[in-house]
Amino acid sequence: MKSSNIVINSSPILSGQICIPGDKSITHRAIILGSLADGDLTIYHPLLADDCLKTLNIFKQLGVKIETDDKNLIVRGRGLLSLNKPSEKLDAGNSGTLMRLLAGVLCAQNFSSTIIGDKSLCQRPMDRIINPLSKMGAQISSKDGLPPLTIKPVDDIKAIDYKSPIASAQIKSCLLLCGMFAKGETIVTEAIKTRDHTESLLKYLDYPVQVDGNKISIKGLHAIKPKDIFVPSDISSAAFFIVAALIKKGSDVIFKNIGINPLRTGILDVLIGMGANITITNKHISGSELVADLRVKSSTLQPAKVSGSIVSRLIDEFPILFIACTSCHGVSEFSDIAELRNKESDRISSMEKGLMKLGITVQSTVSSISIKGGVMKGGIVDSFDDHRVAMSFIIAGLISDKPITVLNTSNINTSFPNFFSNLKDQNIETYLI
Ligand code: S3P
Repeated sequence: MKSSNIVINSSPILSGQICIPGDKSITHRAIILGSLADGDLTIYHPLLADDCLKTLNIFKQLGVKIETDDKNLIVRGRGLLSLNKPSEKLDAGNSGTLMRLLAGVLCAQNFSSTIIGDKSLCQRPMDRIINPLSKMGAQISSKDGLPPLTIKPVDDIKAIDYKSPIASAQIKSCLLLCGMFAKGETIVTEAIKTRDHTESLLKYLDYPVQVDGNKISIKGLHAIKPKDIFVPSDISSAAFFIVAALIKKGSDVIFKNIGINPLRTGILDVLIGMGANITITNKHISGSELVADLRVKSSTLQPAKVSGSIVSRLIDEFPILFIACTSCHGVSEFSDIAELRNKESDRISSMEKGLMKLGITVQSTVSSISIKGGVMKGGIVDSFDDHRVAMSFIIAGLISDKPITVLNTSNINTSFPNFFSNLKDQNIETYLI
C-alpha cells in the first residue's frame, strides 16, 4: 500500500490568496436535493472529494443521471418519487453525513437497500437516527445501532413532531429529508441550533419549509424546483490555513468566497476573541448562503474559553483550534464538547495523544479538554485515520521546533483534495515517508 505518512518542517510565511474547495455539507445536500428535483440543475463549485464523490456515486446507483465537467455537476433530477432500487449495497465510505442523510431518504422508498461504510464509519452511532426514523414508521436494522444499515420498504411514512436531544445537523437533516416523503407536516425542534444548510437549500428550491426559532417544519410530498446551486468555499477547510496564517509570524493571507453562514462561524468568533486579526469584507448572498472574503494576518493569540451553544457552531474546527491554542501564553479551556468523541475519530483523545507527544500539557475529561500553550518539540503523531486530525498536526509542523511526522494522512482526500498543493503553492515543504 502507498505510504501516507507525512513529515512537515518549519516553513516560510504564508501570503497571497489561498483557494479553498467547496463546502462539504452543502455539496452533499445539493446532490441529494438536486437528484430529487423536478428537472435539471447545475451545482457550481461542488466539493469533488471522496466523501461527496460517494454521494454522487450512490445517487447514480439509485438511477439519477449526473454529469461532471471536472468542475461543476449537472444533475438531472426526475422528481421526489423517481429513485430506483440499487443493484448493490450503497457505500458511504467515511462519511457520517452521507449515511445519516441518505437513510432519511431511503427509508421512504418502495425498495430495500443497505448502506455500508468504512472502518471508522462502522464505529459511529446510528441509533440517533434509527430511533426517530422508526417513530416515522421506517424499518431499519443494524447491529447495536452501528452501520451497516439495512432498510426495508414500508407502506407509509408518518409525519412526526420530534425534539432532538442531541445538537446535530445530521439528525435534523435526516428527519427533514424523510419528512419530504410523509403526508402532513414533520416538525423537528433543536435544543441548540445547528448548521441550517438543509433548510436554507430547501427554501431556495421553493420547497415548503418553515423556520421559527429552533423549530423547523416541513410539508411532505411537494416538488423541489430545479434551480442552479452555488456552493461556497468551506469555512471548515479554510480554518486550517486561517490558523496557519495566524500562528506563522509575518503571514498575510486572503481567502475569497468563504461560506460564512452564522451557524458555521463559531471559529471566527473564537479566534477574533483570542485577538486574531481577521477582516471580513464583501459579504453577500450567493444562492442559499452568505459568503464573504477574509483577510488574515498573523497575530499574538490569547487563551480561549469555549463552552455552551457556540460549540455546535464550530464543531469541526476544534482540532485546528487546539493547535492555535498551543501558541498562546496560558491555558485554554473547552467544555461541553463530548460530541467530538463521535466524529471520524474520538477527537478529544486523538488530539490529546498527539499534543502530548509533541510536549504540550493537556488534560481532558469525557466532555472537556484544557491545553497549556508551549513550544511543540516535534515527534511522531497518529491521525487515527481522521482527516481533520491529520491536517491539524501538519499545520502544527509550521511552528514546531523540530519536524512533525503525521501517520496515515490519506484520509485528507475525504474533504480537502488540494490541501497539499495549497501548502506547496505557499512554498511549504512536506515529505512522504
Ligand atoms: C455535518 C454536521 C456535523 C459535522 C459534520 C457535517 C453536516 O455533524 O460534524 O462534519 O453536514 O450536517 P453533527 O451534525 O452530527 O454534529
